[in-house]
Amino acid sequence: MSFKQNKDFKQIKTELIRFMMMYKFALDEFNTKIDILKQEFCYIHDYNPIEHVKSRLKTPESIMKKLRRKGCEISLPSIRENIQDIAGVRITCSFISDIYELSEMLQAQKDIKLVKCKDYIKSPKPNGYKSLHLILKVPVFISDRNEETYVEVQIRTIAMDFWASLEHKIYYKYDKGIPERLKGELKEAADSVAELDRKMEGIHKEINQLKQTDQLEPEIDFDDGTQEIFINNQRFYLPYDFLTENFKTEK
Ligand code: GTP
Ligand code: MG
Repeated sequence: MSFKQNKDFKQIKTELIRFMMMYKFALDEFNTKIDILKQEFCYIHDYNPIEHVKSRLKTPESIMKKLRRKGCEISLPSIRENIQDIAGVRITCSFISDIYELSEMLQAQKDIKLVKCKDYIKSPKPNGYKSLHLILKVPVFISDRNEETYVEVQIRTIAMDFWASLEHKIYYKYDKGIPERLKGELKEAADSVAELDRKMEGIHKEINQLKQTDQLEPEIDFDDGTQEIFINNQRFYLPYDFLTENFKTEK
């Protein structure tokens, strides 16, 4: 390799690393946002709607494959604009309502821009696939500039994730046509999973209503001037005027 070729090669390599790094940073930033929400839910709301979070960077092979499939030009600007799922995050929530609440919370964050929303929960794919897909733009600040970077977010319930993960595993590396009967069976499995989600959501809502009525009951005041309160399901005894003195709400 000549000196010049070597220099060009080094330059291309640096450019590629820088390119992929932006997506890694976007994921880091996005994961921090999710982590903050998760902690806030636990500490303040005493309820965490996020079961688990998984993120991944698309491999260069996979990027090239998609680029060819879509018939796009092979260049970094083309990849940047046409491949919007290089940074991908999958968030598994407990209930269907959590999915929409989380999606709203993310979209309400000032630095996040919603580019596309595909609601495969309201309109499932013909095979039964369900999930809420968001294409977002997240700003990444590096030493000399700020770049809006695409992040694909898939939000689903545990049940939807169970179906999608197994469906993917079943089909993985099987390129031939899938027999209609098996397609039908997978669709039936998707319907059962959806029914399970509906049932769990119903129970969750009813229990929440019961919890709310319970909370309306006054907390117990004791003769010794203390009051029993619950924070994060833990019992605390506080001086009677502690709350009124320390947490005065401004009128
Ligand atoms: P891709 O080229 O695969 O990214 O599809 P797309 O650009 O048309 O976007 P779409 O929102 O339909 O799907 C994006 C991603 O959702 C996929 O890469 C999968 O991770 C997931 N997905 C979509 N459809 C299915 C499906 O039928 N089964 C499973 N298991 N996952 C799916
Ligand atoms: Mg994809």
